[in-house]
Parts: sequence; structure tokens; C-alpha cells
Amino acid sequence: MKVVVTRKLPDSILHQLREEHEVMMWKHENVVMPRDLLLEEVKDADALLTNLTDNINVELYEHAPNLKVVSTMAVGYDNIDIEEARKRGIKVGHTPGVLTDATADLTFALILACGRGLVGAMDVIRKDEWKSWGPFYLTGPEVSGATIGIIGMGRIGEAVAKRAAGFSMNILYHNRSRKKEAEATLGATYVSMDELLQKSDYVVLLAPSTPETNKMIGREQFDQMKKTAIFINTSRGTNVDEEALYDVLSNQQIYAAGLDVFEQEPISANHPLMSLSNVTALPHIGSAAINTRMKMAQMAADHIVEGLAGRNLSHEVKRKG
Ligand code: GLV
Ligand code: GLV
Repeated sequence: MKVVVTRKLPDSILHQLREEHEVMMWKHENVVMPRDLLLEEVKDADALLTNLTDNINVELYEHAPNLKVVSTMAVGYDNIDIEEARKRGIKVGHTPGVLTDATADLTFALILACGRGLVGAMDVIRKDEWKSWGPFYLTGPEVSGATIGIIGMGRIGEAVAKRAAGFSMNILYHNRSRKKEAEATLGATYVSMDELLQKSDYVVLLAPSTPETNKMIGREQFDQMKKTAIFINTSRGTNVDEEALYDVLSNQQIYAAGLDVFEQEPISANHPLMSLSNVTALPHIGSAAINTRMKMAQMAADHIVEGLAGRNLSHEVKRKG
């Protein structure tokens, strides 16, 4: 059967797929497969190994009458029309679990970078402006002992809470459902969204992107945050009203933001948020640790082997969100 792979992946990952199927792989690792070519190649494809930069929508399904499996090399699947896939009997796989620690690490890297002003501090040396040690020179808020508020207590949220416990942080969380085990093992406290926004020094957004979470953090939410609050987003940019975020950062209504994701990716150096010194921005690298990405790629390839053999996918997406 024919498998279309929309990014170049290592040979070792595709070994089994190639033994069993005909693989058409896009030649670039860091360039999106052109839409025209993708729509052409899926015409006779049975499976698609995709990622968060491809829009897997009705248009694509219409072009791909034989499609049986869509396997994304990501935990998030907001780029995939799940409902439409279900109607057409197409199985959708994603890669939860294997990227939890790497993404929690990156989330914590942003917490530390924003709290202690790492990027600005390094700039001081780059610009040759380091004159002396000073009693209050380049001081920032504490991380240890501060209050962290985690919005979205899934796997990654819990892994962030685990790290926060190591920093003796006071851990608050808000989630659709209570996580009694996390409360017991990590000392996390379930609070309302309002209480979380009002009390947290670090507001960390880790909710999936769904119609319900679209722009869930906007003017009204920022207005409730402390003036010293640091906002971290390592989930999806669409969960935030970016114009409101720009406003509260530019007029210093909140202290800083650490962002790995944006409404429209990639952003450029001209993006309004990039003009602000209290923004630490990263190019969507939450899971970008080598072993993690190898595991994600292998899991995505395995899902196609499973699906084309008529088996259930090990990590199948059953519903939206
Ligand atoms: C990355 O953002 C992912 O969803 O895996
Ligand atoms: C993703 O793995 C999540 O559930 O947080």
C-alpha cells in the first residue's frame, strides 16, 4: 500500500514501513511539503504520516479516497478534522506520553528564563554592558517558593507540577476534571480559573487546542493576573488572544511572558511580540529533544504499520479535545 510521509525522517524509523509498503517521502526535513504536491500524492495513498504543519481537512480527505490512517508525529491534533476522519472510517494516531518530559522540561526552561531574566542578562554581555556585580543589578522574581498555576492538568501539566514540587513551589491547577492522584502525590491544589489567575506568580497554559479553548486566555483573564505575573504558553498559540497579550505586556500590566507557540506559526522577527523585552520567544520546540523526537517518529510510523494491517492503533485519537 502507499504511504505518504510529509517530512524527511531517518531511514532507521521508516525501515519496517518500507519493507511492507511503498513510501513516498517529502525530501525536506524543515520545509513544509507544498499543499499541491500533498494533494496530488494522497490521491492513491492509503496512509499519511503527518505533523502539526499540515492541514488535514475535508479538502484533503476529498483528494484521498483510499486513506485509512492519518498518523501525526505530535501529541496535539488540532490540525486534523477528527470528526470527518471518523465519518470516513479513517483512523487517526498521535504520540502522547513520549514527549511529556521533554515538553515539561522546556516549560520549566521558560519559567526559569522569564523569572530570572536569562535572555536579557546574556544580552548585557553580548552588548558589552557588564560593568560590575551590583546588589540589585538584574534581579528578578523568585522561582523557588513562588506560586505556579497550571491550566490543563494532563500528562504534561502533571510533569510540570512534579518539577515545580522540586522547586518548592506552591502548586495550583485548573482542569476540566479533578486529578485527585496529582493532588495527593504532588501536593497540587485544585482551584477555580479565577482563583488561579489571581494568585499565581507563574500562569502556565497547557490546555489542548479545541473550539472551547480558543482564546481562553484574553483580556478578561490577563486583567485578573498580578502585576508581577509571568505567563507561559507551551500548548497552542490559538488558546491565547495575542493582541490582548501584547497589550498587557507592552504596558507592563503583567511582568513577562515565555512563549513557545503562536497564533500563526512561524512568526517573524517583525512580529509585535518580538519588539518587547519582557517576551522570551521560542520557535515551537517543546518536544525538540533528540530521543523524544526519535520516539515520536517511531510511534507515528508504527501506527501506520498497525493501521494498514487492520489492527487498532496503539495511540488512537477517539474524539476531539
Ligand atoms: C507539539 O506541539 C505536539 O503537539 O506534539
Ligand atoms: C499531553 O500529553 C497532555 O495530556 O498533557
